[in-house]
Amino acid sequence: MTAAAPAPRAALDDIPAYVPKPPQPPAVGEFHRLFLNENPYPPLPSALSAIAEAAAQTNRYPGILPDRLVDALARRLDVPLDHVVTGPGSVGIYQQIGQAMLSPGDEVVYAWPSFEAFPIVVKMAGAVPVEVPLRGEAHDLDAMAAAITPRTTAVLVCEPNNPTGTAVGAAALKRFLDRVPERVLVVLDEAYVEFHRTPGAPDGVDLYRDRPNVMVLRTFSKAYGLAGLRVGYGVAHPRVAQALRKCAVPCGVGRVAEEAALAALLAEDELFERVDRITAERERLATALRAQGWPVPASATNFLWLPLGARSSAVAAGLEQRGLLVRDFPGAGLRITVGTPDSNDLLVGVLEGLTAVR
Ligand SMILES: Cc1ncc(COP(=O)(O)O)c(C=O)c1O
Repeated sequence: MTAAAPAPRAALDDIPAYVPKPPQPPAVGEFHRLFLNENPYPPLPSALSAIAEAAAQTNRYPGILPDRLVDALARRLDVPLDHVVTGPGSVGIYQQIGQAMLSPGDEVVYAWPSFEAFPIVVKMAGAVPVEVPLRGEAHDLDAMAAAITPRTTAVLVCEPNNPTGTAVGAAALKRFLDRVPERVLVVLDEAYVEFHRTPGAPDGVDLYRDRPNVMVLRTFSKAYGLAGLRVGYGVAHPRVAQALRKCAVPCGVGRVAEEAALAALLAEDELFERVDRITAERERLATALRAQGWPVPASATNFLWLPLGARSSAVAAGLEQRGLLVRDFPGAGLRITVGTPDSNDLLVGVLEGLTAVR
């Protein structure tokens, strides 16, 4: 980089840069990836054969948008075709939201800590993040409603919340939505919704139906186990959905990704057996860790949050030494993905030995 290189937009100055790094030497021993909230199980056999079949056609472009998948989602969710939006992961749809719905100087309200992409999307658009601290580990919906000003154009709500795993529930969410002015877009991020199938859990698709300012985002990356293929989707009312589609990268969902997602939708019974296994493991893990004295709030997701404050980095380092890679939020806590039973057993064993740092 030289001083003469053209200057990027000033709005990017405040966004953390991904610095390209040389490929790392292969990790020695077995590593347990518990830091990205991935599904620990490989894709289903039917998804793998759809992937192989589609791979043979990768000399051809996919559709500008994944029409077959959009159609399948519209049927599955019982929404009109033109309400469905797609992208390369739901983060791809966030970029569309930033481009289509946010202007420089707009205020965007969201809880913090919440999904790490929120400040990036907002700042990339030149908009202003308005971060409302969680109350305990959960969204403070009253404070969020109070933070809405005439300059607010969007509110981002992650239900259940990443990284704390907490859910506010349908009743509180409805009360909140009723307080948001109709001109403000509410993005309801339900990346983990499939892990929250309990009575009282909200269904964003029901909530959006009679609220033109509400849109829902979901993903094939978590419960559906296709994080590596990058497929996200959402539902929004046509004015918003059409604007988002205008900003979508053409052919942004590849053919392999589309076919795998279609196969996964057809195999939901099998997938939900896995989801049940993961949620059962989540409860086993939470119970074991609480018995060791760790603070573990109830989680409605495929991960646990340990609010360890200043101790979180030391505990993360201790776990890493044993091959357990978790997500450290220095000074706040650890987010630990529920892994396979073997990873979880190891985690419980290693954390037992780390109780001195607890
Ligand atoms: C709350 C939330 N939203 C969206 C995403 C992004 O998912 P995708 O893989 O669909 O881009 C994640 C991923 O961790 C997430 O935690």
